[in-house]
Amino acid sequence: MPFEPKEPQKEIKYSEMRIYTDEELNNYTEEELKNFKIKHDIPDLEELEKGPWPSFVSDAKQGALHRRKLADDRMLIDRDVIEDMLGQLQVSFDEGETHWKHGGIVGVFGYGGGVIGRYSDLPEKYPSIAHFHTIRVNQPASKFYNTDFLRTVCDMWEYRGSGLMNLHGSTGDMVLLGTTTEQLEPIFFELTHELGQDIGGSGSNLRTPSCCIGKARCEYALYDTQALCYELTQYYQDELHRPAFPYKFKFKFDGCPNGCVASIARSDMSFIGTWRDDIRIDQEAVKAYVAGEYVPNAGAHAGRDWGKFDIQKEVIDLCPSKCMAYEDGELKIDNKECVRCMHCINVMPRALKPGKDTGVSILLGAKAPILEGAQMATLIVPFMKAEPPYDNIKEFIEKVWEFWMEEGKNRERLGELMQRFGLPKFLEIIGVPPAPHMVKTPRENPYIFWKEEDVPGGWSRDIKDYRARHKR
Ligand code: HEM
Ligand code: HEM
Ligand code: SF4
Ligand code: SF4
Repeated sequence: MPFEPKEPQKEIKYSEMRIYTDEELNNYTEEELKNFKIKHDIPDLEELEKGPWPSFVSDAKQGALHRRKLADDRMLIDRDVIEDMLGQLQVSFDEGETHWKHGGIVGVFGYGGGVIGRYSDLPEKYPSIAHFHTIRVNQPASKFYNTDFLRTVCDMWEYRGSGLMNLHGSTGDMVLLGTTTEQLEPIFFELTHELGQDIGGSGSNLRTPSCCIGKARCEYALYDTQALCYELTQYYQDELHRPAFPYKFKFKFDGCPNGCVASIARSDMSFIGTWRDDIRIDQEAVKAYVAGEYVPNAGAHAGRDWGKFDIQKEVIDLCPSKCMAYEDGELKIDNKECVRCMHCINVMPRALKPGKDTGVSILLGAKAPILEGAQMATLIVPFMKAEPPYDNIKEFIEKVWEFWMEEGKNRERLGELMQRFGLPKFLEIIGVPPAPHMVKTPRENPYIFWKEEDVPGGWSRDIKDYRARHKR
């Protein structure tokens, strides 16, 4: 089923919604930019304008010059916001310390998250960043945009914010960097009413889900990552906007084990595409790789001479399961031993394709180090179909949430709760039978808990019966 929005989407026409004219948008010359000095001295930052990589300092200066030349009534927060931001950043370079005050609680009515409040601790020196709040805007799945949308957001943000953005935050959101408290509701109104666009998550809630590019442009995609990402984002809007959890919770969707959104490391619930049947082999195409007609890894290593493609050395011998063979010009795969690592497919994408019986593996518990140490996700559901309306997936999510919301301690990530309860108990509570897939190796220590009902005679024993046989 193709990816379809749930409701008809209003078409955004920049030409009808624009705030700035072409002259206002291009209100400075290259010459002016070259000679432009912001109002603060920023020697260390100017060092960062050198070198080949796109310089954030140069970009920010460009924004600063542009704001300087706009008419006074053409922006609703201070003209100097970018210059003050650079000024304060220079101070932080000098002192090796941040100059943002601790915390900041701001937002929009109806929601408990989405805006990260921030205040300068040098507000006299840098008054236009006294407030410098960040708004997380929920990005479209895989971050496909059209220019009408982007230009409309840019106009709005230039008008009501600093004009600075982060494309994108690590969780996925489009991040609008720097505005004042008074502007939050108007921005939210314009995002929702003009742009048909909601904000993203922050706080102890479901954060903005994100996905790899999936079926939009990748032949490896084993389910429609964008559709699932969009569906769950919509379905769990309440959990996203109004924090109800012990702590944050993230979903990420990888179309295959290559992990292009790193769901296994950066989401509490990681969905990774996989397949159950056989890898599809086009033997003619394999021969074309062997003959050098097709380049290995689609040319990814073309920058260096690695010699002629050697299927034995580059594929067969590198298969982690050693389940492949190339004999008499034919490639063979013992699929029941294959761990779906993607290596052979990545090397010979024109010859090998994943199977057709596809779905997701669901892994739980990834998190950064605080408090109990970093965790990557643990396999909990080896295989589940991922087809609209995704009821099986929603049911699983809700079982996990029900447990974590009840038992999770204040600011305890799911991964920590799983450690505290232990895998066997966790599996029992969420109703997933234990399976060998879930562990890398069996436990090595013998401190094994037994359930009373599984032990003949149970736990209630009389010492006298024992003494009748064993004298003191
Ligand atoms: C200006 C200061 C700070 C900024 C801008 C900032 C920003 C962020 C951002 C953007 C995230 C990721 C949120 C997400 O992916 O949804 C994050 C996560 C986090 N931050 Fe900060 N942060 C700041 C200071 C701090 C400080 C001082 C601490 C602790 C002493 C802290 C602790 C954390 C923790 C524990 C996480 C979650 C990591 C995880 O995913 O498990 N942050 N922060
Ligand atoms: C006939 C006498 C004893 C026998 C057969 C015995 C046997 C054992 C065994 C089999 C262990 C477990 C080892 C392991 O799996 O790591 C152990 C641990 C231990 N025993 Fe004994 N033990 C005896 C006497 C004692 C006495 C008299 C003490 C102290 C006064 C003692 C203190 C300990 C301690 C502290 C541990 C470590 C517990 C732990 O690692 O959690 N044992 N003993
Ligand atoms: S994770 Fe897999 S399906 Fe998704 S973009 Fe990467 S290679 Fe393609
Ligand atoms: S996907 Fe990985 S494990 Fe499976 S056959 Fe290819 S290289 Fe071997």
